[in-house]
Amino acid sequence: MPVSQDSFRQALGRFVTGVAVVTSRYENEVHGTTMNAFCSVSLNPPLALVSVDKEADSHNLIASGGIFAVNILADDQEHLSVTLSQKGTAELDAAHRLTGIEYTTRKTGAPILYGIHAFLDCKVINAIDAGDHTIYIGQIEDTGWGEDTLPLLYHRGEYGHLDLHDH
Ligand SMILES: Cc1cc2nc3c(=O)[nH]c(=O)nc-3n(C[C@H](O)[C@H](O)[C@H](O)COP(=O)(O)O)c2cc1C
Repeated sequence: MPVSQDSFRQALGRFVTGVAVVTSRYENEVHGTTMNAFCSVSLNPPLALVSVDKEADSHNLIASGGIFAVNILADDQEHLSVTLSQKGTAELDAAHRLTGIEYTTRKTGAPILYGIHAFLDCKVINAIDAGDHTIYIGQIEDTGWGEDTLPLLYHRGEYGHLDLHDH
């Protein structure tokens, strides 16, 4: 018997992660969604994965477009994470379509947001069915990072910030 969803969330929530906005593009539609189920997979070739809820709008967009970008958020971008993890109002839906959010593109055409800590621009090479999620494995076509930024953190359902100063 598998554990309950609650136990799973309680245990998993104790694993500290960064926070990413995973962006996608299909034809002239762009989309961004907050995700932390992100993991590096292989160095040679460079591969990374994201695990995407089958119910999420980004799920089918990534499948159709065959690309995604992992935008690792900087510690002053909590507002983006909060906005792009919620749905249901016209304003939130517009934000998911990146209306009013500044971005550029690099190799694949997936949106690369401004002010982020780092990005991975990926081409989907495999999609693995996994329960109520699909694991998209992407080959990293381009990457970049901020020199002076710090990452936004997530732990037990709350945002956190790195304190690198000595005490
Ligand atoms: C910190 C955090 C991490 C999340 N990680 C994921 C994730 O890895 N995969 C996923 O499918 N949803 C994840 N979500 C939930 C999505 O952000 C949320 O369901 C979103 O509204 C889906 O948007 P969409 O339907 O426009 O794609 C996360 C939410 C938060 C707050």
